[in-house]
Amino acid sequence: MEITPTTSRAERSPLGSGSCSVSLPVPYYDAGGITIYHGDSRQIMPMLGRFDLLMADPPYGIGADKAMHKASGNVVGHGHRRVAKRTYEESDWDAKPLEAWVMEMARSLCQKQIIFGGNYYDLPPCKGPLVWDKEVNGNFADGEMAWNNLGIPLRIKRHLWNGMARKGAEPRHHPTQKPLEVIQWAIQLAGDVETILDPWAGSGTTGHAAKNLGKRCVMIEREERYCEIAAMRLAQDVLQFSPLNNSDQKHFCAVRQERYGPQICGFRTDRRVRECCF
Ligand SMILES: C[S@@+](CC[C@H](N)C(=O)[O-])C[C@H]1O[C@@H](n2cnc3c(N)ncnc32)[C@H](O)[C@@H]1O
Repeated sequence: MEITPTTSRAERSPLGSGSCSVSLPVPYYDAGGITIYHGDSRQIMPMLGRFDLLMADPPYGIGADKAMHKASGNVVGHGHRRVAKRTYEESDWDAKPLEAWVMEMARSLCQKQIIFGGNYYDLPPCKGPLVWDKEVNGNFADGEMAWNNLGIPLRIKRHLWNGMARKGAEPRHHPTQKPLEVIQWAIQLAGDVETILDPWAGSGTTGHAAKNLGKRCVMIEREERYCEIAAMRLAQDVLQFSPLNNSDQKHFCAVRQERYGPQICGFRTDRRVRECCF
């Protein structure tokens, strides 16, 4: 299925204005069939075409971003095992759930739909939710659920994700990041899909999973710092990604340029990226 620009939904959205001519912004990242738009999905979605699958993890409206920011940076453990937890900057994207029309717009663009945190939204009955069992023991929730319209029985994926104990020691860059393996599993359960939309991309796990599975994917994220992380994850190829300081980033870009040449760089050519990539 083709991803084709259209403006047909712009007039329906409370953010759209009937007469203005809007066009898609230059992607923040666009390479290998994976595109990231930095912006508000309420404004960008009306300009997109149709997709086979909505693979979404929207804000739940439970203040998870603030809670993670508050808990982050603390030192945990004892003696030589003392380590500082990752620091998450303050943000407010999880202050309230999406407006109903936004969820409806996202769903209307995609035939198949998988929505993590769908239990926070008013959605039609779901035959079998996808359950991610985090294999935790303690006070935290045992897992998370994804509402879907796939019409399949309930499926469970067990994948350890308990603070700093994470299967495969997967690096974590976003306060509500989903494991790559879990998102890949969910996409595969959707069966025959070629194009994927994730309008609330965070650190870009959906795009990363789509790339691994050879699918095309469009992601939208309003926070530039997350766009940057998502782009780095996608561009790293075989390099192990961890949060980059300036000199790491320069080294990483030099390696990438040497390997592929600057033309494959999918980054938007803004000041920060141009400094190290071109
Ligand atoms: C639950 S997180 C997604 C985490 C992602 N699944 C991952 O693995 O990293 C939701 C994301 O939606 C973004 N967001 C919230 N409102 C948005 C909007 N109107 N447009 C685009 N992105 C938005 C937030 O900045 C946040 O990064």
